[in-house]
Amino acid sequence: MNLRYVSYMSVQTQVMSKTEVENFLFKIREKNKRLAITGVLLLIQGKFVQYIEGPNEEIDLVYKKIKHDPRHNDLLLLDDGYLENRQFTNWSMAYKEVEDNHIKSIVGRKDLNLDDVFLNPTEDKTHPVLKILYNFTKTLSS
Ligand SMILES: Cc1cc2nc3c(=O)[nH]c(=O)nc-3n(C[C@H](O)[C@H](O)[C@H](O)COP(=O)(O)O)c2cc1C
Repeated sequence: MNLRYVSYMSVQTQVMSKTEVENFLFKIREKNKRLAITGVLLLIQGKFVQYIEGPNEEIDLVYKKIKHDPRHNDLLLLDDGYLENRQFTNWSMAYKEVEDNHIKSIVGRKDLNLDDVFLNPTEDKTHPVLKILYNFTKTLSS
């Protein structure tokens, strides 16, 4: 299978209630199951960081939809490419709202500036958001 992945960051435009988040995730997961898309979505300090993977055409289709979704704006493509194997086989869309304290425990400070993180990569190859993502996926598999 021709597997493709896309990862981006965006700014949430409206705060969602718990019920709204549940409905939002329910719809996304249904559609992703139908299209064989898997991945993870984080909400960190009002910003979404999402990673999706799946068949090439379906990823194109869904990413186009996502880009025009009014629930966020200022999309910044972080990475895209092709894969041999999926990273999130069991997750039609894992979701986590990352608390400030959690960020602090991983990167040593609370005021994580995601733009700085992505636009000015440091010498340290493991970037803070990847640490958060990695930490989160460990909790999913345990
Ligand atoms: C942050 C964010 C992440 C989203 N992730 C997905 C996703 O993984 N899969 C998906 O089908 N739609 C996702 N959506 C919703 C799409 O933008 C779109 O509303 C959805 O695909 C339904 O489109 P349709 O009603 O035209 O089928 C996401 C929206 C936002 C704001």
